[in-house]
Amino acid sequence: MSQVESSPSLSAHGHGSDPKPATGLPSPGLSGKVRVPGDKSVSHRALIFGALARGETRITGLLEGEDVLNTAKACAALGATVERTGPGQWRVEGVGVGNFKAPAAPLDFGNSGTGVRLMMGAVAGNPIQATFDGDASLRKRPMKRVLDPLAAMGVKLVEEAEGGRLPMRLEGVTDLKAFTYETPVPSAQVKSAVLLAGLAASGETVVVEREATRDHTERMLAHFGADVSVEPHGAHGRRITLKGRPELKAAPVDVPSDPSSAAFPLVAAVIVPGSDIVITDVMMNPLRTGLITTLKEMGASIETLAERTEGGETVADLRVRYSKLKGVAVPPERAPAMIDEYPILAVAAAFAEGETRMQGLAELRVKESDRLAAVADGLAACGVTHRIEGDDLIVTGAPDVEGGGPVATHMDHRIAMSFLVLGLASRAGVKVDDVSFIATSFPTFMPMMAGLGAIIA
Ligand code: S3P
Repeated sequence: MSQVESSPSLSAHGHGSDPKPATGLPSPGLSGKVRVPGDKSVSHRALIFGALARGETRITGLLEGEDVLNTAKACAALGATVERTGPGQWRVEGVGVGNFKAPAAPLDFGNSGTGVRLMMGAVAGNPIQATFDGDASLRKRPMKRVLDPLAAMGVKLVEEAEGGRLPMRLEGVTDLKAFTYETPVPSAQVKSAVLLAGLAASGETVVVEREATRDHTERMLAHFGADVSVEPHGAHGRRITLKGRPELKAAPVDVPSDPSSAAFPLVAAVIVPGSDIVITDVMMNPLRTGLITTLKEMGASIETLAERTEGGETVADLRVRYSKLKGVAVPPERAPAMIDEYPILAVAAAFAEGETRMQGLAELRVKESDRLAAVADGLAACGVTHRIEGDDLIVTGAPDVEGGGPVATHMDHRIAMSFLVLGLASRAGVKVDDVSFIATSFPTFMPMMAGLGAIIA
């Protein structure tokens, strides 16, 4: 067993500071069966809920990527006992809602928006000060979207970098005000921060979202014994009501495989001729499967095998075969269910006949990089015809894509993986400038892709 502070695998920036380029090369048809690592969203939440609950939470299948390991370290710094007991197996001894201790040093969330924003909500109801920080990418991302509702609940902003950015020092309070918040942007992180703060508020905290976003926080609140209810709101939205000050009870969490990581071998198999692979145990939460819906509309052969329920989530094995694709229009209301998958969808679209119009992508501008710009620049570097119209990205595909690069990844794991995948089906291969950030979410990406027959050098 290793205590979280002393584990060698827990350095906040394990990828070091030197950029590590790599090239995705034309590859033979992919084959084999793989299981991608645990879901990133569920992994962050399992640790945070474990830290907030009383008693021992056992987690299996935890994603051991840098983002989640930084959240584990933050939970330990706030007073929880966090131990790794085996590969993907963790034990968290929580302190109870409102009982975090002041951390001795700034909490460093590395590259992770989810880690920092959820933890701001979790800290809000504790009478402590904490400094939140991250890497150069995270320091550019907007925190006001979380700070505004938390301030309305009573959290004090002690210090911030210019423009509501990290590093930021907050002071929580014991008497947080419960309130009703309509989220101005479709964001599971904002919703989750408010709900986590709402745990420490007296009375009911209500979050209204016009477009439903991933619901892992709501599911986990119920799993840990909170009184939470979810109702439909308008055509695409939800209204979530949480009763404050529950006694959160420790509960086991079995983390299903991450559909956002499965997206990379999945699209690779669809675009590399002759491919036929199986990806096992993929979480099929309907608020996460927009990419699969879209690829099927484009003509991709994706067969759902052995659909079943595990730990409160539907999971399935997916058989994916090389397919000829056609362009489609992706409606804006689907964006929350595939918000992290647009870079890899743009890669699939590069090989589809005709235009693929991806609509309503404003939120992509504030991810680990400005993903709209990074994808467009990457497509340009690979000879793919495309244009941006407002918040829409339109890609005109062709079966033959030249490739090339170098593609600038801007500290963004998903840009790196997407363009390496493009390289596998291109004529010349695609060089990306830095693959080190892949370790934030998918540390086994390189060996897993190699095992399927992909050539990445
Ligand atoms: C996440 C929510 C999404 C997503 C991120 C994970 C979460 O961000 O992009 O990778 O776990 O809540 P937003 O809520 O900012 O859209």
